[in-house]
Amino acid sequence: MKKLIIAVDGFASCGKSTMAKELAEKLQYIYIDSGAMYRAVTLFCLRNSLISKNIVDVSQLLDVLDELRVEFRYVPEMDKNGTFLNGENVEVAIRSSEVSSLVSEVSKIKEVRETMVKLQREMGKNGGIVMDGRDIGTVVFPNADVKIFVTASLEVRATRRYKEQILKEPNITLKEIKANLNHRDFLDQNRSESPLRQAADAIVLDNSEMTPSEQMSWLLEKINEKIAKI
Ligand code: CDP
Repeated sequence: MKKLIIAVDGFASCGKSTMAKELAEKLQYIYIDSGAMYRAVTLFCLRNSLISKNIVDVSQLLDVLDELRVEFRYVPEMDKNGTFLNGENVEVAIRSSEVSSLVSEVSKIKEVRETMVKLQREMGKNGGIVMDGRDIGTVVFPNADVKIFVTASLEVRATRRYKEQILKEPNITLKEIKANLNHRDFLDQNRSESPLRQAADAIVLDNSEMTPSEQMSWLLEKINEKIAKI
């Protein structure tokens, strides 16, 4: 059977990665979290003082961009793939609210996108992949076999992320999370390079009122309909 490319795009914190990961497991496909790659570059910038007052020192970043190694590797202790930056497992560090607050500033840089997109295409070239992000169905794999565009109300998305983040950062507030999601969605939709857009041939999933298992049944049904037509 043909190994498909499945693109999952959508707004911040609408459950794309949980859904994409589970789907990849069910299909025995590879899952790629493209957002983790932009988060890893952001972490690099923070650690190397390449961001000051929310402004990225683009020319310094471009000097070292080619030397950055961002990859996914299986981590036995986590029993899942983790994101690695120059050989270090940064899976936890890239999920901090500091990284979240700056990632959209880094991901809007043309050269950063070009470098990441090249890696993403390489990872997906043999198919059998579920990749989630913002521009997967529009730019990275415009010919993807299945494109899903996920959305949910801001209230629902913020509450979900808050429940996750409060366990790691006890001082975080729902208000801060909501502001961050709103701000990132704005920047992601309004940047000039590969803005977040729904591809014309994407299937829209609003999961505000869905449980994870309802969502998975919905998704598998849509994918089977697509496969039947291939
Ligand atoms: O998990 P969450 O929805 O919070 O975001 P993410 O998937 O980890 O993505 C973090 C950020 O990376 C987004 O807000 C975008 O700025 C950027 N991103 C992007 O520009 N293109 C992608 N394909 C994936 C993420």
